[in-house]
Amino acid sequence: MLGLGVWQMAAGAETEQAVEWALESGYRHIDTASMYRNERSVGSAIGRSGLPREQLFVTTKLLPPRPSAAKELEKSLERLRLEYVDLYLIHWPLPLWAARAWRQMESLRQRGLARAIGVSNVGLNGLETLIQTSAHPPAVNQVQFSPFHYRRRLLDYCLRREIVFEAYSPLERGRGLTHPTIAALAERIGRTPAQVMLRWAIQHKTVVIPKSSHKERIRSNAQVFDFELADADMAVLDALDRTNGTARARG
Ligand SMILES: NC(=O)c1ccc[n+]([C@@H]2O[C@H](COP(=O)([O-])OP(=O)(O)OC[C@H]3O[C@@H](n4cnc5c(N)ncnc54)[C@H](OP(=O)(O)O)[C@@H]3O)[C@@H](O)[C@H]2O)c1
Repeated sequence: MLGLGVWQMAAGAETEQAVEWALESGYRHIDTASMYRNERSVGSAIGRSGLPREQLFVTTKLLPPRPSAAKELEKSLERLRLEYVDLYLIHWPLPLWAARAWRQMESLRQRGLARAIGVSNVGLNGLETLIQTSAHPPAVNQVQFSPFHYRRRLLDYCLRREIVFEAYSPLERGRGLTHPTIAALAERIGRTPAQVMLRWAIQHKTVVIPKSSHKERIRSNAQVFDFELADADMAVLDALDRTNGTARARG
């Protein structure tokens, strides 16, 4: 339900430290991508943690439009020093390429190199097409989601289809934290603005993957399972949406 996102973390010390702090704080889910160029650092921190593999949930992503998903995943696994990933996502679909890539992803799942496969940045129409043209629906759709990007129609569709909805940029890349409505609510209930935004997304039944490179923030961002936002507060946050409840994955 909660993972550490590592986009825009420099490979080496920054990523290794952040992953180490996250694992110490109880995170077991790390969200990386070949595009982030820090899979090796994620792998080192995981290796050093000594945690049993089965306790971890590691996601990486296929960069479009690579011709061979198998070759790309094998390279990611080598960098991560893992025998399988828990989730492999198509980072974003490209027309013409995505249908073939998805078939390759399905075979990677059958080979056990990815426990689950999914997509990212796919709207309702794209999901419908994928479901109609493939043997298995995606397990996950990872999309930007926050009170300012409350994609209600896309979320409802995914929940109805039992496609896990992962909320990326759940803190609006840090920009949502100073919004007066969020800051005032956080102050009133004695929580941080980040905890309020993450809790909002969790109460909408999404998986959240906030990024931070700071120890204290990594720790406090995970403290979101010991309180609940009241319905009235959820409604106030819902009303910050700037997408008009879109079913699209972008914009
Ligand atoms: N699939 C995709 O296309 C896609 C696209 C974007 C993101 N993602 C994934 O989603 C993850 C999260 O999204 P994101 O990195 O875009 O943005 P985010 O998690 O919404 O926000 C990260 C920003 O918030 C700051 N921050 C975090 N916790 C804070 C706190 N408690 N107090 C104050 N500031 C705080 C971070 O700064 P510090 O680091 O300095 O603390 C950073 O600048 C990514 O890392 C990546 O794994 C996926």
